[in-house]
Amino acid sequence: MTRILVTGATGAVGANVIHELRARGADVRAFVRDPRAAAAKLGDVELVPGDFDDPASLRRALHGVDRVYVSAADGPRKVAHETAVIDAAAEEGVDRIVKLSAMHAEESSALPAFRWHGEVEAHLRRSGLAAVVLRPAFFMTNLLMVAGGVAHTGLLHAPTAGRRIAMIDIRDVAAVAAATLVAETLPGRSYDLTGPAAITFADVAAALGDATGRPVRSVDLTEEEARPRFEGADVPDWLGTHLAGVFGVIRAGGFERTTDQVRALTGRPARDISGFARDFAAAFTPQGAPA
Ligand SMILES: NC(=O)c1ccc[n+]([C@@H]2O[C@H](COP(=O)([O-])OP(=O)(O)OC[C@H]3O[C@@H](n4cnc5c(N)ncnc54)[C@H](OP(=O)(O)O)[C@@H]3O)[C@@H](O)[C@H]2O)c1
Repeated sequence: MTRILVTGATGAVGANVIHELRARGADVRAFVRDPRAAAAKLGDVELVPGDFDDPASLRRALHGVDRVYVSAADGPRKVAHETAVIDAAAEEGVDRIVKLSAMHAEESSALPAFRWHGEVEAHLRRSGLAAVVLRPAFFMTNLLMVAGGVAHTGLLHAPTAGRRIAMIDIRDVAAVAAATLVAETLPGRSYDLTGPAAITFADVAAALGDATGRPVRSVDLTEEEARPRFEGADVPDWLGTHLAGVFGVIRAGGFERTTDQVRALTGRPARDISGFARDFAAAFTPQGAPA
């Protein structure tokens, strides 16, 4: 049976990849830093302790593995972490890598996370390994970052200039990852992944209003008005720069294109914003949101 190693297994997408692989009856192993915390989050799955900064732990985890899901946290160590997995996988003779990347990944990007993904994709091409690269659009779960504001004010602020975004549910990203990990044969290529429709933040506000039973109104900010929200946010500088840049891409129409890859690769339609809003409604209400 094909054995699959999932890195970033406790991550938001990674935990859903584990869930999807187990639902498909796959032989799964999770690479985790803290087995106790991972067991509480992931349930009954084989756990292999290790750290991307410890190459010996990666080689141990990869022993006897056929396919690998590669995803490390965004941040200044991302390229080092993901290239370490790729190099160890090449040494151990793994026959397929599935890498979680991002739409607009580019080595020359001014947006830190898109640049890091571009650098890892280039490393993967140079490795000669058979690889599938998943390039999802904007995640619906990004909306959770402003859930408290929505819950307490009924307002959804964003500098989108009214443009549409083909946002995607991470559960669909995970389903595609699982499908491409277990597929018997697959052309080595990149897939741009989106939700079923390109929608505005006014559409998002309407869906959140319907799901919570409380009115939600979207307020479009100018780039100038939004700048303090990114610069003043309690996040690392690179993330403030990246988030501001993502909204620049949105205002330029860079997330308006939809693709049918979720359906093509999983056989199921991609989830829409109404389903996301219903499933996460509690986070957008005063009872469920952080103060
Ligand atoms: N947000 C968007 O709109 C969007 C769009 C397209 C693509 N993406 C991409 O999606 C990816 C995010 O995936 P995700 O949400 O699953 O990730 P995540 O929630 O950030 O999780 C990161 C994972 O990496 C693990 N990790 C961190 N440092 C480690 C180390 N030194 N050794 C071993 N494991 C380590 C973490 O384990 P611990 O539990 O031990 O911390 C966790 O499992 C990013 O690459 C992002 O660029 C995002």
